[in-house]
Amino acid sequence: MKEFNLTTKMRVFRWNELSDEQREVLSIAKEQTKRSYCPYSHFHVGAAAKLKNGEIVRGCNQENAAYPSGLCAERSALFAAGAQYPDQPVQKLAIACFTEDHFTNEPGSPCGACRQVMVETEHRYGEKMEVLLYGEDAIYVFESAADLLPLIFVSENLKG
Ligand code: THU
Repeated sequence: MKEFNLTTKMRVFRWNELSDEQREVLSIAKEQTKRSYCPYSHFHVGAAAKLKNGEIVRGCNQENAAYPSGLCAERSALFAAGAQYPDQPVQKLAIACFTEDHFTNEPGSPCGACRQVMVETEHRYGEKMEVLLYGEDAIYVFESAADLLPLIFVSENLKG
């Protein structure tokens, strides 16, 4: 038996420590929480994906009375980016959560399915995607989506 410890690098910032580019994409994710369709959870999630060509593609969670038919904000942004700009790597993905009349103090943590899609996005373009998670008290920054999902499942795994 061998034992391994897997480590993840995460940086924690305050708003005024971020670059203008990071603040721009986070501001759009925050704005997007207002467009969230979440009549069931009342948990508003906004996302913004900044592409290599400079475009910023927006997303937000879309719920449904048939609950599993809904979609998270991150995936709605990444799938919209893939549909509109299939040749453009995603360089930054920002996420913000708003509930009970305020943005969450701590950042919301992306669900497992969104992490899988984030990693495939990086893998697809062969470029790292920075992930920025907004919280009122702290902003978490991961320089690569792979930091959020160790031992990833990617297309090579399908080949055995
Ligand atoms: N949600 C997201 O949009 N992103 C996540 O990473 C976690 C959860 C949404 C899904 C659902 O509409 C609501 O938040 C409550 O789970």
